Amino acid sequence: MRPSAPLPRYDIRQTYDWNYAHAPDPPPGIQPPPCPGQWDFCGLPVNSPLGIPAGPLLNSRWILYYAALGFDVLTYKTVRSRERACYDPPNLLPVEPRALAGEGQELAALPDADDYQAWAISFGMPSKDPARWRADVETAKRGLAKGQVLVVSVVASPEQGWTMDDVSRDFARCARWAAEAGADAVEANLSCPNVCTREADLYLLADAARLIAAEFQQAVPRLPRLLKVGLFHHPEEAAALIEAVSPYVHALSATNSITARVRSPRGEPLFGGLRRGIGGTSITARCLEELRMLVRLVRQCGSRLQLVSVGGVTTAEDVRARLAAGAHHVQIATAAMLDPLVATRIRPALA
Ligand SMILES: Cc1cc2nc3c(=O)[nH]c(=O)nc-3n(C[C@H](O)[C@H](O)[C@H](O)COP(=O)(O)O)c2cc1C
Repeated sequence: MRPSAPLPRYDIRQTYDWNYAHAPDPPPGIQPPPCPGQWDFCGLPVNSPLGIPAGPLLNSRWILYYAALGFDVLTYKTVRSRERACYDPPNLLPVEPRALAGEGQELAALPDADDYQAWAISFGMPSKDPARWRADVETAKRGLAKGQVLVVSVVASPEQGWTMDDVSRDFARCARWAAEAGADAVEANLSCPNVCTREADLYLLADAARLIAAEFQQAVPRLPRLLKVGLFHHPEEAAALIEAVSPYVHALSATNSITARVRSPRGEPLFGGLRRGIGGTSITARCLEELRMLVRLVRQCGSRLQLVSVGGVTTAEDVRARLAAGAHHVQIATAAMLDPLVATRIRPALA
């Protein structure tokens, strides 16, 4: 049965804290259609290859909302070892749906658009206090059904004078807390295009990524471990990362949006002229191309890493294309926020 009114979704005119506090309840009367086939997520049985990456699911209530709407791998938005405030709004700003070929291009904002398929993302990885998110992860885990998996995304919060050992220990501390709270898998976010500090592009530093991955393995040896990465500038960089982390983690989650500069309709630079990650259809084609490159490199390196494909996935055709290209699992952020029923449409089409 389908609801007659549109389902509630994240309100981009409100703050992150408002949306945190106003998560919708799972809608009554919706039974997502079964997804044909047998699926797993890093070895854990799941009902479909469809998940939500770190971001849209701010807390347990958002997780249980999307779990009721046909997503089976639910990733808790990146958390830290200390509280961190969100950037000022806009946190999600619609942009023209032009396809991005790479990083650093310019896109025009569409601040008044009602209908859009891409946006600039600008949160700065906020986090609630660890005591709060740890208790909330327990709540999320308790609410999930058989065949559904909870992933917790974590990031380090480097301070002045920290060494890379300190950074990797901070990642590991968060991973341990997530595991204690009931996470089925943990993801280290090595790429955040919207922060200017050291945690922003660790995936480009193979030695640092190796250290973090090794510490991660020690911290949560029994859980599937993933690393979230951004766009690589050269295949050699990607090959170096794959070689470095393959002994320690199960999968890479790629790609964490593509950065662009955003200008107002009058041509003024927005976000202080700094780049912001873009999600949605502007990055669909480039993220598929990146997946193909990573699949090839994983094979060439003789690695057993699996690839979780993220970035611009919107339709059943996109999901099929990612799976056909070698993705182990597919995740949808922007399209699921714009259309909470998207998984109920995609599932039956995956026969
Ligand atoms: C609202 C929102 C918040 C996000 N926050 C995070 C985050 O905390 N950690 C992270 O690794 N990625 C974050 N992302 C990036 C997504 O996980 C994803 O990589 C990106 O949006 C591309 O996928 P899409 O085109 O389906 O949106 C966020 C994305 C959105 C839309």
